[in-house]
Amino acid sequence: MTRYQHLACLLSDRIEQGLYRSGERLPSVRTLSLEHGVSISTVQQAYHLLEEKQLIVPQPRSGYFVATRKATPPMPAITRPAQRPVEITQWESVLELLSSRINNDVLQLGSGMPDLTQPTLKPLWKIQSRMAQKQDIDQLNYDSLLGVAALREQVARLTIDSGCQLTADDIVITTGCHEALSISIRAICQAGDIIAVESPTFHGTMQTLRGFGIRAIEIPTDSVTGISLEALELAFEQWPIKAVVVVPNCNNPLGFIMPESRKRALVTLAQRFDAAIIEDDVYGELAWEYPRPVTLKSLDHDGRVLLCSSFSKTLAPGLRVGWVAPGRYRDRVLHMKYISTGSTATQPQHAVAEFIRLGHYLPHLRRMRQVYQRNYETFSCWVRHYFPCGICVSRPQGSFLMWIELPEAFDAVRLNTELRELNMQVAVGSLFSASGKYRNCLRLNYGLPMNEHTEQAIAQLGAAVERAMLACSHEFVHTSSLIT
Ligand SMILES: Cc1ncc(COP(=O)(O)O)c(C=O)c1O
Repeated sequence: MTRYQHLACLLSDRIEQGLYRSGERLPSVRTLSLEHGVSISTVQQAYHLLEEKQLIVPQPRSGYFVATRKATPPMPAITRPAQRPVEITQWESVLELLSSRINNDVLQLGSGMPDLTQPTLKPLWKIQSRMAQKQDIDQLNYDSLLGVAALREQVARLTIDSGCQLTADDIVITTGCHEALSISIRAICQAGDIIAVESPTFHGTMQTLRGFGIRAIEIPTDSVTGISLEALELAFEQWPIKAVVVVPNCNNPLGFIMPESRKRALVTLAQRFDAAIIEDDVYGELAWEYPRPVTLKSLDHDGRVLLCSSFSKTLAPGLRVGWVAPGRYRDRVLHMKYISTGSTATQPQHAVAEFIRLGHYLPHLRRMRQVYQRNYETFSCWVRHYFPCGICVSRPQGSFLMWIELPEAFDAVRLNTELRELNMQVAVGSLFSASGKYRNCLRLNYGLPMNEHTEQAIAQLGAAVERAMLACSHEFVHTSSLIT
């Protein structure tokens, strides 16, 4: 962090804590320069940064003032899904979301795509072109069913940061985290079985369960502490649950990091009911806290946690390189891997292994965490500024996804139809529920460049949300007067 960024951070903390109140005049540039022993231009740069984030406003010849802001929206309360196993719906809506992601004219506010424009990704292009020039026949051939050994070694090393002690032999390379999840689910369950999931949860997991004829029981989930262990325990007592699928680090879509004590309690609970845990850690390396949060896998002593992840969110989803550390289910997972794709594409595995070996991965991760955290600060200011009151907004602890909850009667599916005309789309909340709950919620991606164009889009989105909120409150008044 540079000096001016550090100063800006300090000032924004003071504003956040209410030490400088809304509308209050801030110290002059000269005063701050003397107080912090930095140059005048450092203070000016810090003020400029805060102005960009709309935390302060300049007034000609009077200095800088704390922007008058709406209050920070509250966080979503713990969810309350129906706590019984259900058949999964929503495939058509997922398909619609997937179809719009290849349309470059549409602003993908709802996608789960990372920022692929950063310079720290450039070495990956170079590595790929060097590999192509070498014309190494092995890279056009099948590799082991487990995956390329050099990559498995690098992955095992990376997992040390999350508290794991794995070797290359403990890892199976997969075609993205998607395949890691699907072969894990298939290794454990059969049609008719029940799996517990967080609610809301990633739609890819849910559609995989649907495809295999597995029912989901949605467990209440808190936007700060994660899956409710109390509700999960009750569910275990009532239903023969084979496994729990969770995203405990930088959850998609709620953004929380489960506290370590709750992670431990979750592993203990699974042991008590002899259930497997499928842990999706695809965003774990993008946590803003340092060191990165531990995985459930690192707390697992009897091999019941299947740790699934990929380089899709940290590097690029098009590589389709993921992995699973399947613990005691290794043989079944290998069989499912074989019948799923035989083996993973060889060339991208070598490219990723080389990217890590040459020392490019960790600096890239550091940069991406900073980019997303800075984006989040700007983006949440815009949401606060342009969205109407009466919303709840998640406070992600990493990665690039934000969850917004609107009043109960709001219809995000209808909003998305209107947004088509504005050439933008959001991910509607119902995609993240087995039974189509959360129609009043949206998931947004702040991995986009935070420029004027994006700000305009958020302004348009905020206005569309406000119109839709007004329309639904009118409809509500109208239908209630018809009923009485
Ligand atoms: C929580 C979660 N798990 C898994 C995936 C799929 O990852 P991959 O692209 O590596 O298959 C995603 C992608 O959006 C995700 O959000």
